[in-house]
Amino acid sequence: MNQKNIDWAKLPFGYYKTDYNVRCYYRNGKWGELEVSSSEYVPVHIAATALHYGQEAFEGMKAYRGKDGKVRLFRWQENAKRMRNSAYGIMMAEVPEELFYNAIVKAIHMNADYIPPYGTGATLYVRPLLMGSGARVGVKPADEYLFMVFVTPVGAYFKEGFKPVSVQVVRDLDRAAPLGTGKYKVGGNYAAGLRATERAHDDGFASVLFLDSLEKKYIDEAGPANFFGIKDNTYVTPQSDSILPSITNMSLEQIAKDLGLKVERRRIPFEELATFEETGACGTAAIISPIKKIMDKSTGVTFTYGEEAGTVSTKLYHHLRGIQEGTIEDVHGWNTIIEGI
Ligand code: PLP
Ligand code: COI
Repeated sequence: MNQKNIDWAKLPFGYYKTDYNVRCYYRNGKWGELEVSSSEYVPVHIAATALHYGQEAFEGMKAYRGKDGKVRLFRWQENAKRMRNSAYGIMMAEVPEELFYNAIVKAIHMNADYIPPYGTGATLYVRPLLMGSGARVGVKPADEYLFMVFVTPVGAYFKEGFKPVSVQVVRDLDRAAPLGTGKYKVGGNYAAGLRATERAHDDGFASVLFLDSLEKKYIDEAGPANFFGIKDNTYVTPQSDSILPSITNMSLEQIAKDLGLKVERRRIPFEELATFEETGACGTAAIISPIKKIMDKSTGVTFTYGEEAGTVSTKLYHHLRGIQEGTIEDVHGWNTIIEGI
């Protein structure tokens, strides 16, 4: 398996070169053939809409090597759907589900040596991206699109792993407008969040926690992950039109129900942070990152939770990972096993 001699357990969440990526062009109103490339570079037209007007969307999922040696994808259909929705949101050609699946499976197969072994904590991160590659100077959607998938082995998103992190609430910078593109996975949202994110890092926090940009009263989400709180045997997570609909969060809501918790998706007023027994950030990259401290940068108001992960977050974490790695029964049919690896 480990023909690449990688120290899997030490991998950060970063780019590690693999051997191949896959590409497919949309031209003259239709998708072409999947192409395999060994180059890490993409020839791009100088007037491509992705470069000028932000016509770009991406996805993030992981291929998990199970205890049984099988390689699983978790709810890839949801990623395919979300990418179609992102394409709709910023007027790009939509990638059909079958093309999406064929591309990710091809990219994983071609780089099978980079799938981290079970038990190392590392996984193969799969990054599909879609960009307007056609030339425009006026502000208009492109007539040509490029869909690509690369894979890279990764470790934990937050260097703390499953250890609680501190996050910073900001009021002077927004990630997304109330009726803007926050619910799509488009590059522009991440550019908009960079200044707040880097400032939070400089201030010693693992992530920023955004409030709703209209009233600054409710919790929206963390930089790269959704937010949840636990109290009174209830999993509470924000309802907001400007956050990314996280597939991990959606899955945790179901797992919470399966484990006998109540689930509430509703607006979470900032003050309610004082009442949670546990809080966390969740996403494909972050998995679950328990939160030990939330500090408001503007007012200094601080909420603290356990220095260690709470019991409910720990249960949710192990259950989710167990399903993804094939040690807990996949009762909802979320996994797809990739054959032949
Ligand atoms: N929120 C944002 C802004 C993200 O970038 C991500 C990562 O994809 C998430 C939430 C978590 O979504 P998912 O669980 O589908 O990975
Ligand atoms: C993910 O969780 O997959 C993400 O895309 C988050 C971040 C790396 C942007």
